[in-house]
Amino acid sequence: MTVNDVLTVHGGTPLHGRIRVRGAKNLVSKAMVAALLGDAPSRLYDVPRIRDVEVVRGLLELHGVRVSDGAEDGELVLDPANVESATTDEINVHAGSSRIPILFCGPLLHRLGHAFIPDLGGCHIGPRPIDFHIQALRQFGAVVDKAPEGMHLTAPTGLHGTKLELPFPSVGATEQVLLTAVLAEGVTELRNAAVEPEIIDLICVLQKMGAIIKVHTDRVIEIQGVPRLGGYTHRPIPDRIEAASWAAAALATGGDIEVYGAEQVDMMTFLNVFRSVGGAYEVTDMRPPREGSAGTEGKIRFWHPGGELQAVALETDVHPGFMTDWQQPLVVALTQARGLSIVHETVYEQRLGYTEALNSMGATIQVYRDCLGGTPCRFGRRDFKHSAVIAGPSKLHAADLVIPDLRAGFSHLIAALAAEGTSRVYGVDLINRGYEDFEAKLAALGAHAERA
Ligand code: EPU
Repeated sequence: MTVNDVLTVHGGTPLHGRIRVRGAKNLVSKAMVAALLGDAPSRLYDVPRIRDVEVVRGLLELHGVRVSDGAEDGELVLDPANVESATTDEINVHAGSSRIPILFCGPLLHRLGHAFIPDLGGCHIGPRPIDFHIQALRQFGAVVDKAPEGMHLTAPTGLHGTKLELPFPSVGATEQVLLTAVLAEGVTELRNAAVEPEIIDLICVLQKMGAIIKVHTDRVIEIQGVPRLGGYTHRPIPDRIEAASWAAAALATGGDIEVYGAEQVDMMTFLNVFRSVGGAYEVTDMRPPREGSAGTEGKIRFWHPGGELQAVALETDVHPGFMTDWQQPLVVALTQARGLSIVHETVYEQRLGYTEALNSMGATIQVYRDCLGGTPCRFGRRDFKHSAVIAGPSKLHAADLVIPDLRAGFSHLIAALAAEGTSRVYGVDLINRGYEDFEAKLAALGAHAERA
């Protein structure tokens, strides 16, 4: 953390105004990796300027992919014509910076016959193992050697389609299988796959490149390997996590925010909860330009309609459930709701640590090892504090906060904006990993915040 990595936030002002979200971080970064599989350039639109994108760009460039900015703002052109090996030292510059490098395994094995993956980074929200990834890669025929400096992989007899069943519908492991199976020889059947909208969008990207992928009912995906793939041109789905984060900010601060680019279809579960808490929203669908009339951009306006907010019980889950990345920002708004709200986190075992900071600001949040509300999950028996009870409403006051991870960091920021007084938020640069221009957006919404 640098000395300048601090935001002074003068809270208590409702956020009002409009901001725009671009392509989803958790699709864009994977679509960039997919470009490695093609034998022609790919073109990706609406790419946000965030650190995860920079890390993937750096890794692609190290492996010979030419990445250049296109004519449109946010357009990237990725040319994989000269894919080449990079040294362990070069790759290790990116060690600890993101979790996306694990997805380079399949594409690099296909293109080069070997791969080196540095130590992974990403948010510290529990152990985040990669056992499903390694098991899947081995089943495709990869030889995986874990070394102190990272992971070396080879595929002495090539990669071959296989039958797999994930112990849990992991987003990353599903993407690993997709990115490996599309060029593997034969058919791959993946059971208990994740089917998040970002995964379906990645399937669309791969299909544009020439892949044959069938999404069956009951989380079964079948991939028929093809001998070659071309490039793609793709406009990604919008970032539904960022959109929900700003929605929560509107509710927690008593404000009114129009989120341009946000789409209803992938946010339905969030919208239901938002309305149950007492938040108001209005969806404006995107309208394409027609002869004689300009089109309109889609947006969702989120606001606090006045009056009291109500407590809710929610459980995070894989799609179509309530996303785990939505809970941290929303919990700040739940501190303002009357009654006892319950949040049962079933995707990550340790994603409630950030509530301590909210308590230091006057919130009353208790975390429990039990599975509270809903169905018992796999963490109940394993002694993880993964349920929270939020008693409200609480008047939040300013505090000094240290940002622990991306989504919790955004919740700290919202809490500081909602609180009376001046807070200092340390480690805010971490928010740039997933929120484009968040400081400019805060300014546009009338927040009073400045560096250091
Ligand atoms: N898991 C394993 N073994 C594995 C892989 C996963 O046990 O080999 C477990 C994890 O520990 C976790 C669960 O499976 O308990 C789900 O993990 P998943 O693999 O689905 O998560 P991920 O792919 O690492 C992505 C997003 C996360 C998001 C989750 C869940 C990216 C880059 N990250 O992570 O987003 O929370 O899916 O939707 O796509 C974020 O954007 O801030 C973020 C953390």
